[in-house]
Amino acid sequence: MNILFLGDVVAKSGREAVLRQLGSLKEEYSADFTIVNAENAAHGKGITPKIYSSLIKAGADVITLGNHAFSKKEMIQEIDTCSFMVRPVNMEPTEAGNIIVIRRFKDLRIAVVNILGKAFMSGITDDPIPAMEKLLPQIRADIIIVDYHGEATSEKMMFTKYFSSRVTAVIGTHTHVQTADERIIDGCAFITDAGMCGAYDSILGRDSSEVMQHMIEGKLTSYTPAGGPAVISGCLITVDEETCRAVSIRRIQKRPA
Ligand code: FE2
Repeated sequence: MNILFLGDVVAKSGREAVLRQLGSLKEEYSADFTIVNAENAAHGKGITPKIYSSLIKAGADVITLGNHAFSKKEMIQEIDTCSFMVRPVNMEPTEAGNIIVIRRFKDLRIAVVNILGKAFMSGITDDPIPAMEKLLPQIRADIIIVDYHGEATSEKMMFTKYFSSRVTAVIGTHTHVQTADERIIDGCAFITDAGMCGAYDSILGRDSSEVMQHMIEGKLTSYTPAGGPAVISGCLITVDEETCRAVSIRRIQKRPA
């Protein structure tokens, strides 16, 4: 089976591109199952229940999150209405939302989990490895896909090598920059970062001049997402339906013309 994973959807530009293109992407890559990280989908920080519903309606099977999971207040209040959304297991508030989402493809149970990295990530409740060790016994599934939302490259590889025999894929998110290190490690698909779905002419999806003002002049700025055409980034994982192990992973990137 083929699992399509799209990296961080950023603001209106990324959101509209994904909503518009998801159907054709699924067709192009013969995707049987689709996961979208949408933690930046609402104006670059967080997600709303309405955006969640639109992505599911467009063809996503599971929505993953990250450090901005609860940046929009209404998300906490209405998270129980978002059945196919998974929040990071190791962040506050630990009681809100799903820490495991399981969906079926044919007779296979596919679990999707989400974990925050340690380096440069504030407010994690547990380090990634102990958090995953606690979570794994609770997962009853044939295929386990981990969205590892973190900053540090070495950390993501280390986590993957540690858990490679016990999970099917570890897909990195959060940096918004797609890496060229996709590989199979002991039957586990890995990429340090899937990249973003967001404005191509931007700095990580954010308005370039605003980021420059902040960096050069030290000005306090609000987070202004960039507009314009979006790049779509992600990866395609192929899983052997007999062994439930990953057999290939390839990068996907669609830049605007
Ligand atoms: Fe993030």
